[in-house]
Order: sequence, then structure tokens, then C-alpha cells
Amino acid sequence: VNLKPYNTFGLPATARRLVRIRSEADVRRVVDHPELGLAPKFVLGGGSNLVLTKDVEAVVLKIEIPGIRLLEERRDAWILEVGAGVPWHEAVAWSIAQGYPGLENLALIPGTTGAAPVQNIGAYGIELKDRLDSVEVVDLITGRKAVLPAEVCAFGYRDSVFKQTGFGGLAGKSVITKVRLRLPKPWQPSLGYLDLERKMAETGITAPDAKQIFDWVCAIRRAKLPDPAVIGNAGSFFKNPVVTEEQCRDIIGRDPHIVHYPMPDGTVKLAAGWLIDACGWKGKTVGGAAVYEKQALVLVNKGEARGAEVVTLARAIQESVYGRFGIRLEPEPVVI
Ligand code: EPU
Repeated sequence: VNLKPYNTFGLPATARRLVRIRSEADVRRVVDHPELGLAPKFVLGGGSNLVLTKDVEAVVLKIEIPGIRLLEERRDAWILEVGAGVPWHEAVAWSIAQGYPGLENLALIPGTTGAAPVQNIGAYGIELKDRLDSVEVVDLITGRKAVLPAEVCAFGYRDSVFKQTGFGGLAGKSVITKVRLRLPKPWQPSLGYLDLERKMAETGITAPDAKQIFDWVCAIRRAKLPDPAVIGNAGSFFKNPVVTEEQCRDIIGRDPHIVHYPMPDGTVKLAAGWLIDACGWKGKTVGGAAVYEKQALVLVNKGEARGAEVVTLARAIQESVYGRFGIRLEPEPVVI
């Protein structure tokens, strides 16, 4: 099976076997299958956080479980239940249209709803973990279903138990079939992010509703992030590095303009895009892979890029940022 249409970077690779999963029962059928049951598995959502550098040997489970509904209305929250195969943005747009606010800051993030907890998607001051009630999973060895409350998902910045491969990690060991979102009542806007403050100043709207914030976030993202349907990419290619206060002072010594955000725990988050930009990478290419002109944190496919070219470009960026600032950048997407 050709995987090019199934990864937003548009990288060439094939899978020996690909099974479409439309229900929980489909997962159990795979688990009980005489050959597929024992084979290694690779769970694929929208393929929007993936860099394929070679063919996939594992059995690819392409998650297409549909469905979205209000599961429960509580005094202090709305609980939505969303099938893992529903495109994330569709779930966000549906919730806003139905009058269940709370997901507006996470508008227009590519990928499926089932993939959202895997890397704890986040944008404009909100992370998925702030809106997650629980996740329904099916174990790929036993076929048993379990409901994992948010507290046991080991959420971190762009990280969770579902992304971890070591002992206790669930990558390749279980499939997320449904996601339950908890949207707190009364709704409170989250407007602390600079780009949103700018929108408020521009428009003079000081008390936007959820739909207004949703529209702003869509506009901000469209202005600086490439649409994967038009130009292949996997969003931010590196995580924003977190350093100690002393390290930060040392880096400010090297360049006083560095964009940095103090975190509640005393550490400091640096803008990886700024570091890469400062090293002069915007628009640079390796073969078909390039650094996006409008946002240096995003690597793009100019058309015919191969995974190896993306990785070569990423390594060159890492070396130059390390050389100049002494900071090691960590890739954000899963590299196969
Ligand atoms: N900057 C530059 N040059 C660049 C890019 C950025 O100077 O080429 C500066 C910007 O001016 C800004 C700062 O770096 O002062 C941060 O940039 P921005 O606000 O665009 O956000 P980001 O740190 O690049 C993060 C997330 C995004 C998320 C946005 C908004 C990560 C790795 N990325 O990007 O998430 O949408 O904040 O919240 O945390 C993703 O994970 O794929 C993703 C797109």
C-alpha cells in the first residue's frame, strides 16, 4: 500500500499491510486474526505528525472510527465523546457550532481526534490535557477495552504514555478508539497568547466569544502555517526547548533578542523557531526538503522530497543551533 496519501508530509513509503479500523470490533478482529494478531502494529491517524524515511514493516492500522456526540451535560461541564477517526478540526468546529465552547484555541490543528492525546496537541495557551476527560483504548495483545482517565496518561509538553515506547509506554501496544472531552462550565476564554492579544487590539473586541476566538485562531494559523493539503509538512518540526534560568541567561548573553517565556516551575521555554531563524535557515533547502519561509520551525516538502532529505536538513539545523546557542533541538514528529 502506498503511504504517500496517508502522511501530510507527502513522503514516499509503502506498507506491506494496511487495515482500516472503523470500529472497536475491527480492532478485536485484528487481535484475533491468526497472522495479524501476532505481528507488530503501527497505529496511523491523520499521518500529520510523521516523517517516513523507509517502508513500514509493521501492520498499519489506519484509524477511521467515526462519531461525535454530547455524552453528558453536567452542572460544571459538557462531556463530548468523539470517535478516534474524526478529524480534530471537525470535532472543534462541531463543538463550537453546537454551543459547547472550550476547544476554540485548538482550531485547525491537523490530524485525527485519536492522535490528539498521543502528542498532547497544544496551541495558543491550551493543551489537550486541559480538556481531556478520558480515553477509550483497546489492548493490541488481549483485545480488552479500558478507559484511561487523563491522570494516568502521563501528559507532558507534546508527550504522553501513548507516544512512549519503553517500559510502561503504550506506543504500538494499544489503540485509542474514543476520546472524551471535558469542557468546563462556565466557559472562560483563554486570551493570554501574544497573537490573540494582538487580534484584540486590532479589532477593539475585548470580550470575544468562543466563535470569535475560533475565527481568530484559524486566521492566525492560516497566515503563518502551511496548509498540508497544499504544501506537505508535519507542523512544528522541533519542540520548543526548555532550559534552566542560568542557561537562559547564558543564551541571552549570546543574543539579547532571544524569544523566551518563563514557565511556572522556574524553567524557561525558548522559541525554537526564533533560534532556527536567527541561524539564517528560513527558505534553505536540502533536495526537496525546505525550511518554510514564514515560520522557521516548520519543514516542508517542495514536492518530491524523500524522508532522508528531511532528516538531513533537520540534522544540519540541529548542528547549527547547537553550534551557536549550545541548545539541542529535539524533533517533534515521530520519525520512522
Ligand atoms: N519566531 C521567529 N522566527 C520564526 C518563527 C518564530 O522569530 O521563523 C518567533 C516568533 O516571532 C515568536 C516565537 O518565535 O515570537 C514563537 O513563535 P509562534 O508564536 O509562532 O509559536 P511556536 O513556538 O513557533 C508553538 C507550537 C505550535 C503552536 C504555536 C501556537 C511547538 C513546537 N509549537 O509554535 O504548535 O501552534 O506555538 O501556540 O510547541 C505543532 O506543535 O505542530 C504546532 C504548530
